[in-house]
Formats: sequence, C-alpha cells, structure tokens
Amino acid sequence: MDEREQNRAMWSAGSWDAVATLIAGVGPKLLDEVGVGPSDEVLDVATGSGSSIAIPAAQRGATVVGCDLAPQHFVAGRRRAAEAGVEIEWVEADAAELPFDDDRFDRVFSTFGHMFAPDHAKAGAELARVCRPGGTIAVTAWLPTGYAGRMFEVVGRHLPVPASSGPRPVAWGEPEHVREMIPGVDFTFHTDEVVLTAPSVEQFADFYAENFGPLVTARQALGPDWPALRDAIIAFDNEWNTATDGSLSVSAEYLVSIGRVPAAG
Ligand SMILES: C[S@@+](CC[C@H](N)C(=O)[O-])C[C@H]1O[C@@H](n2cnc3c(N)ncnc32)[C@H](O)[C@@H]1O
Repeated sequence: MDEREQNRAMWSAGSWDAVATLIAGVGPKLLDEVGVGPSDEVLDVATGSGSSIAIPAAQRGATVVGCDLAPQHFVAGRRRAAEAGVEIEWVEADAAELPFDDDRFDRVFSTFGHMFAPDHAKAGAELARVCRPGGTIAVTAWLPTGYAGRMFEVVGRHLPVPASSGPRPVAWGEPEHVREMIPGVDFTFHTDEVVLTAPSVEQFADFYAENFGPLVTARQALGPDWPALRDAIIAFDNEWNTATDGSLSVSAEYLVSIGRVPAAG
C-alpha cells in the first residue's frame, strides 16, 4: 500500500461523521466571515461528511463541490445533505492533486483537512490554482501549541512509525508556513477556539479511539500497548480540562487564514 492508500484507509477507519459534530460550528463561522452567497462556486477540500463547510455553504445558496481522499465519508455526507435539502457534488480527490480546472472556484475552503496532505507545498499550490483571480482561500488548522497540536504530539510519541512522511500537519497553524506554502496570496490571520465537551475524560478518550480514524488506526497498530497511550491521553486531557464537575471541557485553538488571490491583470 502506498502512502496515499494508507492515509485513505486511516481516515476511513471509525466514523469521522461522529467526530465532526464536535467541531461543526467552525465552518458556518468561517462562511460568515468570508461571505458566501448564491452566486458563488465553492470548493470544500477534505470535506469529510460536509457538515462544516459544504452543507452550510449550499444552504447559503452556493454551488458546492466537496472533495475528500476518503469517499467513505460521503455516505454520511449524502444523508446529511438530503436531510438539509441541498445538493453537493461529492468528488474523491487528494488535496495535493485536485481534479479541477484552474481558476474554477470563487471560494476555496478547508477546515482541518488540507493540513493532512503530506506534501504541504503541493496542497497549497492546488488550493491557489483552483481559486479564481480575485477569489478567496480560507483555511483553518490547529495551533501547534494548542490542545489538538499537543495531543498529536502525545499520540506521535507512542506510535512505532510516524503517521506521515511530511512535515507536521500543525505547521499549517503558523502564519509564516501558510504564506510560504501559498505564495502570492494576501493572507490575514487570526486565532479562534472551539470548545470540546464530553461527559468525562475517559468517555472522550474512548469516543476518539472508536471514531477518529487516526486514533482507531493507532489503537489497532499498538495492540497490547494501546492502554499506555489511552492512559497518556487521559492524563493529558486532565491537564487541559477546565470542567470541575467530572465532565470534560477543553478549548482547542486554531489558526484562521483568509487569503485573497490577486485579481487578473
Ligand atoms: C479532521 S477531518 C476534517 C473534515 C472536514 N473538513 C470537517 O471539518 O469536518 C480531515 C479530513 O481530511 C481528509 N484527508 C486527509 N488527507 C487528505 C488528503 N491528502 N486529501 C484530501 N483529503 C484528505 C480526511 O479523509 C478527513 O475527511
């Protein structure tokens, strides 16, 4: 299996759609910031089941394509789109090799998706290539120093081999990296947070281990060593937890990068 196949299998494990509900507020907030309406053609790169960007953008009247390396997510995405009464074009695609014409989209988004393509420069070039002159690229990525960035470190320390051959996905949570990976686009940056909640730290760790593809895969790879990682995750969550009633509440910070592609001529 090559790396792309391995990544597809990893992200197809568990149920991204179940995890997506925890962060689904990020997309609508970003759509409001960028401004999306009926005249816009929108691409949601690494859309998952579309709950963050693709479906809310279609509900605003935009024409939407949602693409992802793992078409398994489209089963839930199609169901959610039907429930929302909107149509999305679902396309299997690697963020680093998008099967779309140059300059096709008015708005190109990715919430915590483009960051997982191992070749950051290729993914950045593709986001820019498919966005029309004068259009907008808007992406979110976890801060390396935030809850999710640090959690990836905890998991990474327990893995026998690194999850990816590329740079750290959370490098996309640094403005300099975004500028370097998508040159020639005028970006503004700010940070935001999403608050993750669960009935308990143990329930949260087990929910992720059952549903979040990379952790499902890590658990399977670790076999008898999984309990050590589970303990490390629970200890880490206890450090970050701000709830005092036995439940879990953590703030996960992310970088919002909004870039205007220069107009033609
Ligand atoms: C953390 S999820 C985010 C999904 C969605 N954007 C959301 O906010 O709900 C990461 C997504 O990236 C997809 N993905 C990972 N690597 C990819 C790649 N190289 N190209 C396209 N999609 C990829 C996964 O299948 C998964 O759907």
